[in-house]
This record gives sequence, structure tokens and C-alpha cells, in this order.
Amino acid sequence: MMTTLSSDSDIQTTSRGFRCKLCDVNLPNLPSVDQHVKGRKHQTLSTVRSTRKSHEEHSVFVSGIKPEISQTDLTEYFQQFGAVTDVIVDKDKGVYAIVQFSETESIQAALSCVEHWLKGLKLRVKPREKKEFKLIPKKKDAPQNLQQIFDRLKPELCQLPSVDSQMKFIVERFQLGENEKKARSLVVQLLQEVFVEFFPDCQILLFGSSVNTFGIHSCDLDLFLDLENTKTFQARAKTSTEQVGEGMSDEGQSEDSILSDIDLSTASSAEVLELVATILKRCVPSVHKVHMVSAARLPVVKYHHRELNLEGDITLNNRLGVRNTHFLQLLSGVEGRLRPLVFTIRYWAKQKQLAGNPSGTGPLLNSYALTLLIIFFLQNCEPPVLPTVNQLKDMACEEEECVIEGWNCTFPSQPIAVQPSKNTQDICSLLAGFFSFYAQFDFASSVISLREGHSLPITNFLSQDKDDETMEEGEPSKSDSHHPKLGPLNLLDPFELSHNVAGNVNERSLRNFQKECLEAEKYCRSLRYQRKSIKGKSWGLVRLLAPLGDVQQANPEQLVISIPFKSASLPEVLCKELHLAGDGFRLLWFQKVCSAVEVVLKTVLKCLLDASTAGVLGENSAVGVEEMETTTSSLNDSTQSVESQSESSPQCAAAVGAKRPLSSGSDSSVSPHGKKPRLARRGKLKFPPWIVVQKHMVWVGRRKVRRELMKDADCRPEGSCMELESQVTASITEKEPELKEPLKFKVCPQMVSGTENPRVLLKLEPISDEAGIFHDCFHFLEAFVPKMVETLLEKGTGSA
Ligand code: UTP
Repeated sequence: MMTTLSSDSDIQTTSRGFRCKLCDVNLPNLPSVDQHVKGRKHQTLSTVRSTRKSHEEHSVFVSGIKPEISQTDLTEYFQQFGAVTDVIVDKDKGVYAIVQFSETESIQAALSCVEHWLKGLKLRVKPREKKEFKLIPKKKDAPQNLQQIFDRLKPELCQLPSVDSQMKFIVERFQLGENEKKARSLVVQLLQEVFVEFFPDCQILLFGSSVNTFGIHSCDLDLFLDLENTKTFQARAKTSTEQVGEGMSDEGQSEDSILSDIDLSTASSAEVLELVATILKRCVPSVHKVHMVSAARLPVVKYHHRELNLEGDITLNNRLGVRNTHFLQLLSGVEGRLRPLVFTIRYWAKQKQLAGNPSGTGPLLNSYALTLLIIFFLQNCEPPVLPTVNQLKDMACEEEECVIEGWNCTFPSQPIAVQPSKNTQDICSLLAGFFSFYAQFDFASSVISLREGHSLPITNFLSQDKDDETMEEGEPSKSDSHHPKLGPLNLLDPFELSHNVAGNVNERSLRNFQKECLEAEKYCRSLRYQRKSIKGKSWGLVRLLAPLGDVQQANPEQLVISIPFKSASLPEVLCKELHLAGDGFRLLWFQKVCSAVEVVLKTVLKCLLDASTAGVLGENSAVGVEEMETTTSSLNDSTQSVESQSESSPQCAAAVGAKRPLSSGSDSSVSPHGKKPRLARRGKLKFPPWIVVQKHMVWVGRRKVRRELMKDADCRPEGSCMELESQVTASITEKEPELKEPLKFKVCPQMVSGTENPRVLLKLEPISDEAGIFHDCFHFLEAFVPKMVETLLEKGTGSA
């Protein structure tokens, strides 16, 4: 049954469909609203909301208590007004409580009592505040706020004479002021004084934006608690205690030191961090909201400094962080154009929601990664604006040699040691260059190396075989078994070469980043960017830095499913195959994906693939000789076509020939649809379309059927198991009646490659849709097919 909107006040209509206010999600159409409202999340939140409401209506707020008053005392006292069902005392300080009655009348009785005395304390009793139930949103800057800041900035920027001066203005407007820096160092000093009491000889070192010259107002206070000296201290103290004999007091065994309980030589970092959290909570004034984030790559203790309104982190073992902060400081000193570029690009990225990860984790670029991308671009300018990390290493003198955890971190300590760049471009054109560089960057095939100053082929990293190619120069003693975690964006740390600093970035974030770069590139070519408007209109940075509007609408006419190349989730065998295919890996992957799509449509979703109707649509579309569209028409000049790759690469051609038996059919020379893939005249690859006939709405109620089938097992996410999904389809097709008129649509697979990330686009077009369900079907396939294809490729069953 369809949910009517009026029956659920949580559902609002929006320009793009619907929105559930309670769960904070957008929903494209009515069937999805129906499914959502019946789904677990919505049901759970509705139940929580009504339980809360009922609690509010049955309870009173009691303040003025002290920790010595127990729950039982409160229960006994309030029983005089009616049966008490629960008493909740605040955990932190024990100064207030919520007393819940079984009848609402008891509340009136309690409230009408003039005074409440318990164990000599006067209690205050108030009705509960009626709070609107809301899903606590993820902490992020309210868009409104960003918009307000930007609105104030706009007129000031518009008045400036050039983009260069606008960029410098951004630095001045946002950079950390001297007083802020002083306040920060006072906090560090205070922490140092407190921590040294517990960890003798320890050092608190600042790193990250507070000191790397790119810090903005309210940026984090990143700290590294260096316990090396404490360890030495403890070891010394231990030896001397053993020598002197037990029971003797010694400096390392101070009676009231928490340290007497912890041996740093054997304690785990979780134990030490727990201790750090305790010290912060109990002993450092103004510090609150202390919590550990143990799941991070480098576990941290997070805290908030109330007076300065600062967020901060304390990590252990982060010598590399301190060193790379010095590296950023050095480059900032070497090249004056770096700061305005970093400030402007960081601001742009924040406005476009491309970077920031407010809670520290998330799929966006972090500030450090974004800064490295800027440096890499500057290394690749002609002539280079910045030297490579290897070149910097060679400029350092012997005393500056530095190896941390086996990684070579050598570079000169002073900017004067680095020769100035011969590049004379102004920052306005460098900014435009940055956008252009990354709009066209082939992320999928590259691993970015600042050490080398160029990107390395991803194929070197695809195979787990430890071939020497993978290793970079300048790596002194680390074993080559340290491979970075590959993802859609691969950006090696300049020193810790096994760390992909953008390993958290997902396909969607990268796509958005490249899309925004492309938009910015186009804008930077316009006069609006370069010339001040004499009519007082927005120009230069103003338009570039405008916050991302309400989520951009996809073109409703373009029903396209995108399947990105995800190197990280491919199985070892396939990685090897792709590795061997060299430049032809894209084509090989395209074929694998097409096979998997066919399996999804035919076997998992039980569609009929009606090859005979292909001819009806006209020979041209059936054999796919049209030029393949790219999403970036402006890149046409520089797009390296698939054909040109295959012509220039015999491996690539061989890969196509070798991998033809993709279909379940017996003819090994056919494509998934029984036709050979053709290269278009002008060099783009496209398979002939599938004509898909669907007799059941296999997407309706799918989640529920899956849950029922999984009753006693762990519920698997959608698209993660082929057998299960096939069963779900079978169950739906058995129970639900056939459509009177089957849905018929065309699916054209195309490969987008060249300077873009390889991805397969499936373009969907309805042929016959009597029931008007094509769009719903598309929305289902849009999410389902990419997930299922990924599962099949992971399991190596795609070509089954
Ligand atoms: P951030 O990404 O927080 O950068 O990393 P930031 O410059 O401090 O920016 P904001 O203002 O907080 O957004 C902080 C530091 O952590 C280290 C680097 O030293 C960086 O400067 N870091 C971060 C790494 O060493 N590796 C990483 O992958 C990320």
C-alpha cells in the first residue's frame, strides 16, 4: 500500500522528490517513500520518539541534589506523589535527576507541593521541557553559516583590483592572528606542565595547521605527546630501583603518580591513551568533551578547550606528523605563492563540500591531502614552482639528514638552501592551472608521488608481487612489503611512502572533486574571472568561492548508471590480469564489467535479455558505432581515446581478443550480447545495447524479502551476495503477479576513459513502459547494479 503524504507528517515534498524530516533523508519517489516509512530506521526512530514523548509526559526534572543522594532516596521521596517507575540521575556530576511516574496525575501532585526537602537539601522540581525530537545531525558547518560568512566577504572581494589581491585578502582574512597563536602556545605550555607531572620528561609538540603556516581561525590544535624521554626515564628508574632494592622511594616511582601503574615499555598505546584522556579530564582546566578515537589510523584523544573554543587532538607516535609539518613550513618559506594558493583552494574546497571531514573521519579530502595535491601541481608546472621531495633531499646537508621509522625525511631546514623557482606565473593563473590540472588528471591510473614529482602507474601497485618497480627512490630501509591502501585517489605521503593520505576518499568524493575542478576551470577561462566588473557585479574569486547550492540536480533526462573503476576492491587474480594488460587494463576491465552486468540482469534479476529486438532499433545503435560521449566535452582535445590506446598498445588489443568469451554463449568471439564490441570510427568504444524485458517489479519490497530470508543469519547489505539476491528475486517473482505489460528498456554500455577515471556508463532508455514504472526501476538499478557488479568482480564470478 502506498503511503499518502498527509498520513505521515514526517514526509515533505521537495523539488527533487520527497524528504523524511525524522530520518534526514531524501527519497526520489513514492515507492521509495513507502519502503522507507516501513523500513527499520524510520520505524525505530518513530518508536524512540514516541517513547521519549511518553517519558516527557510522565516525568519531572529535579535539580539541587548532590551526589550523596541516591536513586533509592529519590524514589522513596517521590513515591508520596504516585508510583515512581524510574529515576535517572545525571552521571557526570549527580546534580539533577529525572523522576518518572506511572501516571501523569502524579506530576501535578509533585509540582503543586510548595517545597521539597530531602536529607537537608532543598530540591527544585520542574515540568520537563518539551523538546522536538530530532536526529542529531552529523557535526558540520551549517550551510547557512558558510553562506553568511561568504555574504560578508563578497563586497570586500569585489572591490579589490585583481584576483591576486583577492587571494591575498583571503589569507589576511582567515589566517591565525598573533594573539591566537599566543593563546595556543599558552594552552600547549599548560598541557606540558600538567603532563610532565605524570610522564616525566615528556614533550608536547604542536603540528598541523596551528604551525604549518596554513592555519585559519579556529583550526584544530593538533598535539603529539612524545614519550621517548619518559621511557628512558622509566628504564633508568627501574634499573636503579632494582639495584637499590625494593621499598626504597625513587624519583621514577613517585607515590602519587599515576605512572607508577603503567610501564611504558610494555603498555599498549590504547592504555597510554586512556591515561592521557584521564589526565585531560581530571587535571587540565577548561578542557572538556574528552574522548578517545581508537579506530583512527593513528588513535587520538580528542578534546575541546572551552575558553578558546578550540578542538584538539593528542596523538602518540606521530614524529612523522611533526616532520611533515616542518616540510610544509619549509615550502611556505621557499615559495611565497604557496600560502595564497593553499588558503584559496582550501576555502574553495570547503565551500564546495569537497574537503574538511568535520568530525575527523569521512570520505572527503583532509586538509593535509589537499595541500599535498596543491604542492604536486606546483611541482608539475612548467617550469616547476616547487622542487620534488627527492630534489629537496639532495639540497640538504649532512646534519639535516633525518630518518623516521625507516622513512627518509631529509630536507633542508632553511628556505635559503632551496633555489628560487624560474616560474614567474602570477597566483591568479596558477589557481586556474590547478583546476585545469586536476580536471583532467587520470586518477584511476596514477599514484601521485611528491617524492618523484610525477605520478607512478597504478599497475605497479596493483599486483601484490613485490617487484622493485613499486619502490621509489629515496626509501632507505623500509621493506617493499608496505603497499599503500589503494583507492579512487592515490596520493602517497611524501615521506611515509606506504601511506595513501587520500585512502579515505571514496569514488563519489573524487567525482565531485573533479567535477568542481572542471567547473572552476571553465569559469577561470571566462572574462568574469580575470577582469574586475565595472558594474559592481560578482567577479574573480567571488563566483568561484560561492558555496555549493542546494545539492545539484541531476539531469532528469539522462538516466545513466555509473560503475567506477575501484582498484582497491578487485581480487588478487584480477589485479594480476589487469597488471599484465598494461595500458590495455581499461578495456579488459570494461569487458569484465559488461559480463558482470549481464549476470546481474539475467541471473540475479531474472530479466529477459531480448537480443532479437536489437535490430529493431536500427543498425547504428545496435552495433554502437557512434562516438562515445564523454561527460567532459571541453576535454575532447586532450582526451586520450580508448582506440588510440589500443592501437598503440599491442597488449591492449590482445586483451580484447583474448577476453571475448564473455558471454555465457558458446561463441567465444561474441560480446556479452552476442555481438562483437566495435571501436567507433573516431576512437571510442561502445558495446551494442541490451534490450531488457522485465515482467516483475523485482525492486518493490526487496529489502523486506531479504530480511525475511536472512532471518537467523547476519543481515547482509544489498548487493553483497549473488545467491541471496537471486533468491530475493525468485521469491518476489513467485509471489507477485506478472505485469500486464512488461517493462522494456534499452541499456547501452559505454566506457569512459582517457583523461577521466575509467568507468562504465550504462545509459538506460525506455522502449515500452505501459505501467509507468521505468523511473522507479532506474532508481533501483542505479544503486543495485554497481554494488552487485563490485561483488561479482570481487568474487571473480563476473564472467560466469
Ligand atoms: P589535517 O588534515 O587536519 O591538516 O592534518 P591541517 O593542516 O591541520 O588542517 P585543519 O586546519 O586541521 O583542517 C593535520 C596534520 O596531521 C598530519 C599532518 O602533519 C597534518 O599537517 N597528517 C594528516 C599526516 O601526517 N598524515 C595524514 O594522512 C593526515
